Amino acid sequence: MATSTATRGQWGSRMGFIMAATGSAVGLGNIWKFPYITGQNGGGLFVVIYLAAIALVGLPIMIAEIMIGRAAQASPVGAFEGLSKPGSPWSLIGYLGVATSTIVLSYYSIVAGWSLHYAWLSLTGGLSGLDVDAIGNTFGTVHASPGINIGWHFVFIAITSSVVAGGVSGGIERASKILMPALFLLMSVLLFDAFSQPGFWPAVKFVFQPDASEISAAAVLEAVGHSFFTLSLGMGAMLTYGSYLPKDTDIVKTSALISVLDTVIALVACLVLFPVIFTFGMQPQAGPGLVFKSIPIALSQVTGGRFLSIAFFFLLFFAALSSAIAMLEVAASTLIDRRGWTRKRTCAVMAGVTFVLGIPSALSGAGGFFEVGMEKTFGRSFFDLFDYLATNWALPLSAFFMAIFVGWVIPAERRRAEFADTNAGRVIYTVWLTTLRYVCPVAIFVLFLFATGILPETWLGKAPE
Ligand code: TRP
Repeated sequence: MATSTATRGQWGSRMGFIMAATGSAVGLGNIWKFPYITGQNGGGLFVVIYLAAIALVGLPIMIAEIMIGRAAQASPVGAFEGLSKPGSPWSLIGYLGVATSTIVLSYYSIVAGWSLHYAWLSLTGGLSGLDVDAIGNTFGTVHASPGINIGWHFVFIAITSSVVAGGVSGGIERASKILMPALFLLMSVLLFDAFSQPGFWPAVKFVFQPDASEISAAAVLEAVGHSFFTLSLGMGAMLTYGSYLPKDTDIVKTSALISVLDTVIALVACLVLFPVIFTFGMQPQAGPGLVFKSIPIALSQVTGGRFLSIAFFFLLFFAALSSAIAMLEVAASTLIDRRGWTRKRTCAVMAGVTFVLGIPSALSGAGGFFEVGMEKTFGRSFFDLFDYLATNWALPLSAFFMAIFVGWVIPAERRRAEFADTNAGRVIYTVWLTTLRYVCPVAIFVLFLFATGILPETWLGKAPE
């Protein structure tokens, strides 16, 4: 390792870490993805399963992942090396994290680009005065345009890499301390507005009232998979952020707080979106275009709608940016730690790599090879294939091995030393360790049995549609 721990960055304060880690967790996953998968899976019961997945699998693994980083004070590859026997294959999980975060960032940036484009359209009045059909077509046009997708992808990667180039406390922490409060504020404004819409109570009912007839194994799979994605687990991102933590921070409390904030934002996003859906009689099952079609349509019809629409798409952009920063930091910290590169050089190189890697995803709505050709060969567009491989395979796989690594492999003293030495601390430690050793690996293993088709997906209830 070329640089010593003395030159590693550190968070300026516990609050700074919480903002940055929450910024990583709260992203497109909460505001764009969670509402549309909740819509597709019928609401209430899906939400309950998701909450259970966060508490039983997500939170324990978050504690474990942050712990690996803090115990080793190193980026993912070095952290696994440092905590296991020399020459053992555990460092592969570190490499997997670096690869996954880079791959996810490459297509995450495309969706972030859409939010930038929509923020721009709202700002310049490009969405005003359009009727429902025209707004629906706008999404189709954006999705199919190479120029729009590649252009905003470039802008987004440029912004992300400049923040990361600013360093841990000077760049990432400083940006998060602005982005997160701004996001909470915008969210409150939108929630306040949603509250006055006639669709508000039907939306509350849809999101919070479990309906047992609505569930399938596919929905359970999706809920558990999404709980990793939304908490930024299994890519070494929380590990990397944890490596900048001082020894006296309480990992359990902090992880619990991050999980709660992330969950609250996801639920509030539903309470912002679904009132609109129900007020205007739209379909909750609209899929990935849900946010980009429904928000402009609805907001074009209310007073102050243009302002709200600007607010919403900036919110989406802020949420995406603070997540993208964390994804880039995984590879950045690895190159800085292991190659001794300067932060600036690393960020320039990684910006180039992610930009190029994202081009096939940017072209995935444009017809041609990356959409039509890929669909013929793999049954999905390039974009969807990346997303599928990362979230359905790479994340659960690496979360599984992180649970095993911390639960069974690292020396007990290392594990114990990361916990507060109090009575409450000891009880929590036991509960956490038991969950991590048994519940998490078994749950993820069963998930894989369903995902590979070894267990039929129809087992848990109605067949997926
Ligand atoms: N949690 C982010 C979201 O909900 C997405 C994400 C997944 C992520 N893995 C990550 C962000 C790793 C940063 C780092 O949108």
